[in-house]
Amino acid sequence: MALVSSRGITIAGPIPGSLAKYCTGKMMYVNVAVCLSVFLLVIGLSIGLSINNFKGSNALDSAPLIDGHNDLAYNLYALLNNNLDKFDLTKNLSDDKIWGMNACNSCYTDLPRLRKGKVGAQFWAAFVGCDSQYKDAVQLTMRQIDVIKRLVNKYPNDLQFVTEADSIEEAWKNGKIASMIGVEGGHSMDSSLAVLRLYYELGVRYMTLTHMCNTPWADSSLVNDSAVHNLTEFGAAVIYEMNRLGMLVDLSHVSHNVMRHVLLRTKAPIMFSHSSAFSVCHNYRNVPDDVLHMVKKNNGVVMVNFYSGFVNCNSSRNATIQDVVDHINYIRNLIGADYVGIGADYDGVSSMPEGLEDVSKYPDLFDRLYESNVNPRWTKEELEKLAGRNLIRVFKAVEEVRDTLAKSEHPRQDIINARDIYNAEVDDNIKPGLCYTGKEWKDLNQTSATY
Ligand SMILES: *[C@@H]1O[C@H](CO)[C@@H](O)[C@H](O)[C@H]1NC(C)=O
Ligand SMILES: *[C@@H]1O[C@H](CO)[C@@H](O)[C@H](O)[C@H]1NC(C)=O
Ligand SMILES: *[C@@H]1O[C@H](CO)[C@@H](O)[C@H](O)[C@H]1NC(C)=O
Ligand SMILES: *[C@@H]1O[C@H](CO)[C@@H](O)[C@H](O)[C@H]1NC(C)=O
Ligand SMILES: *[C@@H]1O[C@H](CO)[C@@H](O)[C@H](O)[C@H]1NC(C)=O
Ligand SMILES: *[C@@H]1O[C@H](CO)[C@@H](O)[C@H](O)[C@H]1NC(C)=O
Ligand SMILES: [Zn+2]
Repeated sequence: MALVSSRGITIAGPIPGSLAKYCTGKMMYVNVAVCLSVFLLVIGLSIGLSINNFKGSNALDSAPLIDGHNDLAYNLYALLNNNLDKFDLTKNLSDDKIWGMNACNSCYTDLPRLRKGKVGAQFWAAFVGCDSQYKDAVQLTMRQIDVIKRLVNKYPNDLQFVTEADSIEEAWKNGKIASMIGVEGGHSMDSSLAVLRLYYELGVRYMTLTHMCNTPWADSSLVNDSAVHNLTEFGAAVIYEMNRLGMLVDLSHVSHNVMRHVLLRTKAPIMFSHSSAFSVCHNYRNVPDDVLHMVKKNNGVVMVNFYSGFVNCNSSRNATIQDVVDHINYIRNLIGADYVGIGADYDGVSSMPEGLEDVSKYPDLFDRLYESNVNPRWTKEELEKLAGRNLIRVFKAVEEVRDTLAKSEHPRQDIINARDIYNAEVDDNIKPGLCYTGKEWKDLNQTSATY
């Protein structure tokens, strides 16, 4: 009998013959206590070894893996105009003629692979393109919220709609993937706090303040270190209203200055639903060190994005799973394991690192993190926090702020300045008469319409 640890090192050989002799024969009665101790030691050693057999991915059995961002709903719109009759999430779609890797360069998701990936909870993104801003963004966002709800209802054995922090773990313990909605991009609320409030009523639990376009009240990451609007006074009202509602403020996609601005003003912890570390890869979608320190102070969480273009800035090689490990380790090393999570961005991007090719690969990432050469090594508890407990902590804190503010605050009635909208539309080259961007309107002859 040789006991072998997970790293393949032989730790204890066979029990030596001399020991067996010592425990039997004439000396038995005299040495019974000694023998008992030896066997207890062997049992103790075995228990110790089973702990040594721990693999990083085992943390996904004791805590839910919560991914901050998946764009499957956008693909449902782009490929099927949200017709779920033509879609089967229960099938392994990797070779499908519409959804397979060869047919679709941003498709990575189905139930067999989510299950293999041990996904316990998912924020599904309700995303509509920036070309809908000042046009039909609200209507299109409603469709995406609707298709996420219909998808969840279609697979009740696997998915469960969740709007409260406590329900995430409950659903996961019942074998369901807790399914939540995040609206990706402030353009979706069309500068209206009324729309924001109704999104919350529909179950939306985070809103990303911008996508790749500025809103009239917040700058996107394309603005880099500079500022067009920064966060305006109305933008601050949006943050406060989200704090009051209990909606998580998502700082992925905003400019570095807007990150700083919001972190100085928010009354609740914030999240980055899908962003990595700027110091490791200088892309402005990633989070710079000074902001990481602010996130720690804010008690928030940065859920790390896997997209090849955000994790690897070296164009002479391809991204690999090790790049993602490096981003996560960098953040842990700088601010601690309490402020980092996972927000892979599957279905939102066209290239994923080698080793993280689809949603079945998360366990490999956790194995690698546990094996990675960092000091101190990852503990099981830290891996559970990374997997989901950090997000649950942030979500609960946001609910507590909501409950506290409910005693003193009323719905805000701020209206955005008309001049801000006018200027933003001019900046965006919006012409009257171009009000619709939905797929089915594309065939209409825009110029012949009368307004
Ligand atoms: C899905 O299918 C692909 C290709 O046939 C296969 O490599 C993969 O292991 C399958 N995954 C699951 C979870 O069944
Ligand atoms: C800033 O963003 C623009 C895109 O708007 C990009 O082309 C440019 O390279 C960025 N600047 C820096 C310093 O990264
Ligand atoms: C934008 O806001 C940030 C954070 O408050 C501030 O540091 C920066 O100076 C502002 N930039 C401009 C150009 O107003
Ligand atoms: C970029 O990748 C190439 C190929 O792996 C490597 O030789 C080079 O040192 C890398 N550059 C940097 C700056 O890391
Ligand atoms: C990167 O990946 C692509 C496609 O997977 C492959 O064709 C190419 O050879 C790889 N490049 C390098 C430098 O490994
Ligand atoms: C679209 O409208 C323009 C201007 O009225 C007209 O010349 C053109 O023939 C129309 N095209 C179609 C396909 O209806
Ligand atoms: Zn995104």
